[in-house]
Amino acid sequence: MSGDGTPLLQVRGISKRFGGLQAVHDLSFDLGQGEILALLGPNGAGKTTAFNMIAGYFRTDQGRILFEGRDIAGRKPWDICRIGIARTFQLSKPFSDLTVAENLMVGGFVRRSEIDEIRAKALEIADFLGMGHQAATEVQHLTAFDRRKLELGRALSTEPKLLLMDEVVAGATPSEAQEMVELVRRIRDRGVTILIVEHVMKVIMALSERVIVMESGRLIANGKPKDVVRQPEVLKAYFGEGYAARA
Ligand SMILES: Nc1ncnc2c1ncn2[C@@H]1O[C@H](COP(=O)(O)OP(=O)(O)OP(=O)(O)O)[C@@H](O)[C@H]1O
Ligand SMILES: [Mg+2]
Repeated sequence: MSGDGTPLLQVRGISKRFGGLQAVHDLSFDLGQGEILALLGPNGAGKTTAFNMIAGYFRTDQGRILFEGRDIAGRKPWDICRIGIARTFQLSKPFSDLTVAENLMVGGFVRRSEIDEIRAKALEIADFLGMGHQAATEVQHLTAFDRRKLELGRALSTEPKLLLMDEVVAGATPSEAQEMVELVRRIRDRGVTILIVEHVMKVIMALSERVIVMESGRLIANGKPKDVVRQPEVLKAYFGEGYAARA
């Protein structure tokens, strides 16, 4: 909650259709200031589509998206970035022939114009990611996991209030996943509110006090992780009708 009690983000009945496919249907949820909220759901549930609407990459067919109480639906991605929402991409797209520091400088221009200040900020983020020693390394020479961290850093370089993270742990080893969990916590401790799409249950349990679950474009659950994973609709969405009945 912000000072006046309004949630940082209020999603109100947003929908998106692609031809005959209703990818997101009447989705509503709130996200409080300082929260880490996990968005779960099986493949194709509409999670990335929801992110794309919040971040301005897709127009909503219907509904409202309020950020700090202001309706942002229909605004363009750069506009949304400027008001304080950043996102990572499920498939990261760094500038591979630029260095780590250069990649981290790009987003800095959203808030600052002094090049020295932007460079200093980029180096601060590289240190924060534990990549300070790689600041001058070209991205093409990074491991897959370091690219993931850089993707996160690129989002942070725009100095967001809200960060949308789309499967940043995908393909990570257990120790890398643990490192990412700690990084996400430290990002929240910097005052950034987080909405995270993640499939790895261990990561979700470690990070989020609350989860929401989508299935076929609809919200089917909203609550504490340990309660939500026992709900029959959620078991059915992940494992099928038969499993849910036995459980
Ligand atoms: N640009 C697009 N054009 C047409 N259909 C799309 C587009 N983007 C997504 N879809 C479809 O919308 C549905 C929801 O996709 P979305 O990517 O939002 O799911 P997701 O929950 O992020 O899945 P995953 O866990 O696999 O990333 C899917 O059926 C997908 O094929
Ligand atoms: Mg997705």
